[in-house]
Amino acid sequence: MTAVDASVFEGSFWRDPYPAYERLRTQAPVREVALPRGGTTWLVTRYDDVRAAFTDPRLVKDHRATLPPELREQAPRLPGPFGSMMVLLDPPDHTRLRRLVSRAFTARRTAELRPRIEVLAAGLLDALPATEPVDLLAGYAVPLPMAVICELLGVPDTDRDAFGTWSRALVDDHDDVDQQQATTGLAEYLYALVETKRRAPDGALISALVEVSEAGDQLSTEEVVAMGVLLLIAGHETTANLIGNAVLGVATDPALRAHLLGDPERIPPRGVGGHALRGRGQPRPGTLRPARAARPRPRDRGAPGLRSRDPLLPGRAPGASRGGGGPAVAARPVPRPAPGRGR
Ligand code: HEM
Repeated sequence: MTAVDASVFEGSFWRDPYPAYERLRTQAPVREVALPRGGTTWLVTRYDDVRAAFTDPRLVKDHRATLPPELREQAPRLPGPFGSMMVLLDPPDHTRLRRLVSRAFTARRTAELRPRIEVLAAGLLDALPATEPVDLLAGYAVPLPMAVICELLGVPDTDRDAFGTWSRALVDDHDDVDQQQATTGLAEYLYALVETKRRAPDGALISALVEVSEAGDQLSTEEVVAMGVLLLIAGHETTANLIGNAVLGVATDPALRAHLLGDPERIPPRGVGGHALRGRGQPRPGTLRPARAARPRPRDRGAPGLRSRDPLLPGRAPGASRGGGGPAVAARPVPRPAPGRGR
């Protein structure tokens, strides 16, 4: 067995992860790697392997499922809002949350936001200097999804700066960033926001999540807060990376640029985002999928070094798509601004 690779998530990886993914796919498609904040995991980088991992019932999201049945009930959930976050749960908990959330977070709600998104996007573009180089990420790609998520959730204008600071800290893997403080700050803010919306509903998503019910079931305050935190994490950095990579793709690919600029009609109605995702998919690997504590069946014993309770991390990269034409983001075939495939 190869030694743990401690270097994957270090240094230049975050500036350009695709060469590292390419190396892994060709040389070590299932590789034990060190995680940035300690511990190890198995990183899976080939499309077929990632798909197989997603549908393997032995791999779960909720860490409690890795415990023997007699210990599961008393085992603590993840702290704070993470314990109720649907992306970290398995059926039936995940199914229940997803069913309730999808009654409030609908395609119609997203579509109705479109005119407002266009105003926000145009405002940010107008504010960029026209004759000097611009920092696309700081001036557009990062603030746009943040503003859209605030709009979606119903976060008042006055609170958006603090909201942005917490959210950036939450997805930052650097040691000097206090994720604990950011999580607490964000969760406390969202608890207060939920109470405000309870008293004065405004039709935005937090209000809708508070009100949603089905067959006598409702989301608890903690579940609404967890959904707010999840939407921030899930929708913010992903979209910022997509915009950055799409623009980089057009800027550095002369053939693509000539093709698009030669005739603006060739620009697909939904932009070049799909192309960017196929070429340079979401750079960050997916969430951990720990292996259930189960005695391996005899035919499992030959599996490559997997021990019970080992977490698995689906990585994503361009070549992760089968034959280049399929989805680049192996974890989620059709990325769109709505809840995706949970596991
Ligand atoms: C280019 C943009 C995006 C990409 C590439 C992307 C990718 C993904 C991936 C790979 C997952 C699965 C994560 C895992 O299980 O490990 C996921 C889940 C999720 N995403 Fe996105 N996403 C994008 C944008 C968004 C946006 C804009 C939102 C909402 C505002 C969003 C909300 C969610 C939610 C709620 C989940 C959890 C779904 C569940 O557990 O059932 N995503 N996304």
